[in-house]
Parts: sequence; C-alpha cells; structure tokens
Amino acid sequence: MTTKNVYHLALNSDQTAGIRTAFLPGDPNRVEKIGKTFKSSQLIASKREFVTCEAVADDDSRVLVTSTGVGGPSTSIVVDELAQLGLQNFIRIGTTGAIQPHIQVGDVIISQGAVRLDGSSPHIAPMEYPAVADFYITQALVRSAQELGIPFHVGISVTSATFYQGQERYDSYSGYVPNHLRESYRQWQSLKALNYEMECATLFVMAQAFGLRAGCVTGVLLNRTVTEQVDTQIIPMVEERVIKVAVNALKYLLGIT
Ligand code: URA
Repeated sequence: MTTKNVYHLALNSDQTAGIRTAFLPGDPNRVEKIGKTFKSSQLIASKREFVTCEAVADDDSRVLVTSTGVGGPSTSIVVDELAQLGLQNFIRIGTTGAIQPHIQVGDVIISQGAVRLDGSSPHIAPMEYPAVADFYITQALVRSAQELGIPFHVGISVTSATFYQGQERYDSYSGYVPNHLRESYRQWQSLKALNYEMECATLFVMAQAFGLRAGCVTGVLLNRTVTEQVDTQIIPMVEERVIKVAVNALKYLLGIT
C-alpha cells in the first residue's frame, strides 16, 4: 500500500499504521506530559502548533497524542489529517472556564454536547446539525472519573471562536463586546451550559459527520461566577487531573476500538 503523507501534521500513514485513538490537548507543551503517563512514548512530529507523540499503553496498545492549537480552524486540520491517516477515536483534553456556581476549580467537565459558536463547524455541516459527543467515549470518561474519585460534571459546553468577546469578557484590549454577544454569558448560564472552551464543537461535528468518535474532558481553571482571574498555581493540579481522567478512560474504550 502506498504511504499517505499529511502536510500540516508532518506525519505519514506508516507512522500511524494500526493506531486508532488520539488524545488531543490544545497546548503543544502538554503533549509530552500526556505521553509520560504511558508505559513509553516518543515524539514523532512537530510542525507549527501541531506536536505529536506516539505512546504505548500497559496492554501494549498504541495511541497518538497530537496538539490542536487553540480554536476551531487548527482543530479541524488535526481531525481531518488524523482521520486521513486512519485514526477513528478522538479524546480532547483541555482546560476551561466554568459558568455555573456549583462547579469547583479542579473539577472536570465531560462535554455531552456543545453550543456551536466555534466558527469552524458550519464549514462541515449546517447549524441545524448537533454538536454531540460519542456516547461510548463519554461513558468511558465518566467511568474513569468515577473510578479515580475526581469530581466531574456532564453537560453542555459553549465552544467560542474567541476567548474574550465570544465568552463575553470585558477585560480585553478594547473592553468592547459587540451587541450580539452582550448578555450571551447570562444566556448560556440560564440555559444550564456548564463552561466555555474553544475546540469541542468543531471536534464533535466533524467526528459525527465523518462517522468517527469523539469525546471531550476539560479541567476547570476558574469559575467565572467567582472570578475572572486564573490562579496560575493551580494549573499543574488541574492538568494532572484532566490528563488522568482521559488516559484512564482508554481501558473502557477497548471494546469499541
Ligand atoms: N479556556 C477558555 O476558552 N475559557 C476559559 O475561561 C478558560 C479556558
């Protein structure tokens, strides 16, 4: 069979042969951290914001860890190119801002569905098409969090194309939020959305539309009902928890991979 190369990720199908599952952090610096939680791992590609390592789990199954960068456009490239290379299961590992008062910093949020303010998913399917997670991956993430005793919440996330205006933050350079986004924070909160993040709607729509599977778990960096500031000291703890929940979910996925 001829080797398939993908441009942005600088990967080829010989490197990914036999690998079905990819973990998708946003941050390239988190790729190695995730890889180190496996029995072994090695960096296999690095280009722009797209860093990839191959990791081997305790049962000798192989997975990829690839960073998506921030937002829908770069996430769409990762999902498409990994799918071209034969990957079928995608688990986003991210961080997030909670918008419901009962959610604590350090909890994890397992997204069941996402509000499509990502800007990229309309290029895949019309707005009437739902951004929903794969049931089995979501179930695996829930079982994993339960087993680890890490507090979790399952529900709807809001995926925004921007960190400031789309998440109705006023502490930006201009301080201006366009009319159509004012009061949007309260609206999503009233509609029981749990959190803001920037990638999951793109991932969910692509996976569902292409017949792939995707799930998303994010660690809560701040609760916006309390503060707009992230306490940077808690970041390592939040990252460690969300990585644990995602990686530990792998064993519950084996039946579907
Ligand atoms: N990521 C986001 O998109 N929003 C937050 O508030 C925190 C992380």
